[in-house]
Amino acid sequence: MDIGIKTGKSPFPGKGQVLIYFVFEEEWKKDQGLKILDELSAGFIGKKIVNQHFDAKAGKIVVVDINKPEYDQVILVGAGKKDEFSLARFKNLLAETVRTSGKLGLDELSLFYFPALGDDHFNIGKNLSLAFHLANYRFDKYKSKKNRRPDRVTKLVFLKDDKITSSLLGGISFGELVSQGISLTRDLVNEPASHLHPVTLESVAFQIEKTSSERIKVEILDKEECVRLGMGAFLGVAQGSEREAKFIVLKYLGPKAKKTVSLIGKTIIFDSGGLSLKPSSAMETMKCDMAGGATVLGIFKILSKIPDLPLNVYGLLPVCENMPSGGAIRPGDVLTAVNGKTIEVLNTDAEGRLTLADALSYSEKYLKSDLSIDLATLTGACIVALGKEISGLMGNDKKTMDLYQKIADKEGDLVWPLPMHKDYLEKMKQGSIADIKNVSGSSSGGGAITAALFLSEFVDRMKWLHIDIAGPAFWTDRDKGVISHGGTGWGVVSIIELLKNLS
Ligand code: BES
Ligand code: ZN
Ligand code: ZN
Repeated sequence: MDIGIKTGKSPFPGKGQVLIYFVFEEEWKKDQGLKILDELSAGFIGKKIVNQHFDAKAGKIVVVDINKPEYDQVILVGAGKKDEFSLARFKNLLAETVRTSGKLGLDELSLFYFPALGDDHFNIGKNLSLAFHLANYRFDKYKSKKNRRPDRVTKLVFLKDDKITSSLLGGISFGELVSQGISLTRDLVNEPASHLHPVTLESVAFQIEKTSSERIKVEILDKEECVRLGMGAFLGVAQGSEREAKFIVLKYLGPKAKKTVSLIGKTIIFDSGGLSLKPSSAMETMKCDMAGGATVLGIFKILSKIPDLPLNVYGLLPVCENMPSGGAIRPGDVLTAVNGKTIEVLNTDAEGRLTLADALSYSEKYLKSDLSIDLATLTGACIVALGKEISGLMGNDKKTMDLYQKIADKEGDLVWPLPMHKDYLEKMKQGSIADIKNVSGSSSGGGAITAALFLSEFVDRMKWLHIDIAGPAFWTDRDKGVISHGGTGWGVVSIIELLKNLS
């Protein structure tokens, strides 16, 4: 699949093609291009508009057969309100259009440049390319051939009157690279736990190292090494599973780097809840509990092809499985983390924070990170607070949090800050035989916040961002915009953009 770029005179350069035509709610009635297209179609477009109640609301798509030498079809896409338009919206609308076209068996599309896209050519190219590649993402390896969907669009031609700039072309290829990272994240999250062991992720990390032209080095800390480092909290979670835990470290050492950023991904390959077993319905999607780690691997796949980021970036994946067994941790057990703090485990289903406690302390104590960012499918409570489309953002550095929120918003990865109310922390310390409990007790509410406060006990001086991706990491609904059913790859593009901004 590729995105071809063609130049042509506006507005009808093609022959026997499908034209995608975006139009705003306030403008479609007097849109000049639409008038010309209507004439070309001998009034057919106008009729369709009336029949299908086209109102140019965002996401409204109408396909019109005109069978003219210039175009076979015109796809009218409602771009919504002009002042709500953004490149993120454009990306989702275009992805939706590509999906609709695929279902109709159209495999080559042309999109005409329109002024509302603005003049940030790199970002136009990037979003165009993300829309196209992500809408074409499929995870059908476990389906028999006859059950696979043959509905992909193979080519998108971007028609532009004036000069095709090198930044537009650069954006298109960068978008393709980012899509590859996102697709890797999606593939890993979609992979069932039966087929995804800690060693599977280890080999994915080595594969990234191998194709990185020496930019990335991978180190694996096995169980003995984790014991030696004092990762009692992480190993406590792992001890109920037959699959040996691995702590995967990826290192990108940028040229002339002055700062070190660690990306920490919660990587529970399956979360049964452990002895505090989840009810079956809550367990159905728990193969997704390694989405944080998969996001970090997706990001490193992209970093492996970026030669000149002046930043050291470390990726940390504490990989294990949360299972009940004769060897599993019990409610009431006490574990000791890398920073020496002791944790009374009252609920074995609050396991992510235990693995992250050690990863955070390790990143500060041994890797001397200036900033650590953890991405974690950490709490159901975050979904209650913010729903399935917005991640929770917490941390100890308002400036970096604000910066990330702004960048993420632009990329369509929505995040919202939740308050780190200190009093809740006290509740996790009171009445414990250890330094802290891993839960604050039943019916206290604010679960996303208490989880973050727990993590803050394992951060000392470094800057830290915590992103609770429990909602957006895994989509159980119908495909929507660039988001497809299953693993979404949420966070890959916004973290990459943040890294570019920090360097
Ligand atoms: N992995 C879950 C959180 C989760 C829930 C992720 C739904 C994605 C979708 C996490 O380990 C968990 O079980 N958290 C508990 C914490 C509780 C025991 C304090 C939760 O959210 O119920
Ligand atoms: Zn859990
Ligand atoms: Zn979990």
